[in-house]
Amino acid sequence: MTDFLITGASGRLGRKLIQRLEGRNASLRLMSRAAGPDVRWVCADIDRGTGLSAAVAGVRTVIHCASSPYQRTREVDVEGTRRLVETCSLNGVAHFVFVSITGVDRMPFPYYRAKLDAEKIVESSGVPFTIVRITQFFPFVDWMLRRLLALPVGLLPAGGLLQPIDMGEAADRVVDVSFAAPAGRIAESGGPQVMSFGDIARQWKQARGRSVFTIPVPAVGASLKALHQGALTCPNGWRGRKTWLEWLK
Ligand SMILES: NC(=O)c1ccc[n+]([C@@H]2O[C@H](COP(=O)([O-])OP(=O)(O)OC[C@H]3O[C@@H](n4cnc5c(N)ncnc54)[C@H](OP(=O)(O)O)[C@@H]3O)[C@@H](O)[C@H]2O)c1
Repeated sequence: MTDFLITGASGRLGRKLIQRLEGRNASLRLMSRAAGPDVRWVCADIDRGTGLSAAVAGVRTVIHCASSPYQRTREVDVEGTRRLVETCSLNGVAHFVFVSITGVDRMPFPYYRAKLDAEKIVESSGVPFTIVRITQFFPFVDWMLRRLLALPVGLLPAGGLLQPIDMGEAADRVVDVSFAAPAGRIAESGGPQVMSFGDIARQWKQARGRSVFTIPVPAVGASLKALHQGALTCPNGWRGRKTWLEWLK
């Protein structure tokens, strides 16, 4: 019996999960579409449906992190999750941990809709599950700001609210729920502070020594309105400790 299969093991969160699970002496199987560096890696593709039975056979807990936000999103995130969880059901997997995003039911982005649909597939699969929704990781917010504020003048949804989280703390949270019994839909997880985009960008500009003039974008349209209303935050949920400012330093 293998303790854990991690899908998306080569990804940003996946790599942090590997470190932490190794630290707790868990036996691991690691999924990627490409060949991996050691025998723990299995080649499988949830979009094409290849290699799934071999990946899942004899595994107690599956931690599902594989995702494709920018291409073939519905095929990978929705239909791919369906194929994976059906394979888990056939193979008697005891616990399916699905990594989702805080606010997927409150924010009308197509990617978030796909994650929400995937959550519903997991919930109705019959496989004991835990859904862990997490807010945006610090490196993702950093990447977003580098794009939005690449030029001397940039547009910013300054009044929008985020609650970004350290990726290591997000990984700790996923590992903890993965060792625990299946708990269904649990409290959403986020960083320690709900912050406006304006404050996040101000601290970022200071830390990076950037002097970008920002033009605030008003809350027009469903997505920006939701962002301003805090759709991506979970002030009453589980909170990490590391702040955005600490991460920037
Ligand atoms: N980034 C954030 O701020 C954030 C916040 C909250 C939650 N999340 C969630 O956390 C999870 C991990 O995010 P991340 O940023 O670590 O992702 P990532 O770095 O983009 O990694 C995505 C992973 O998905 C795998 N993958 C993509 N298509 C696949 C396919 N067809 N079959 C099998 N594997 C496939 C890739 O593996 P190979 O390329 O090796 O095949 C890769 O390891 C996602 O579910 C995401 O929604 C992310």
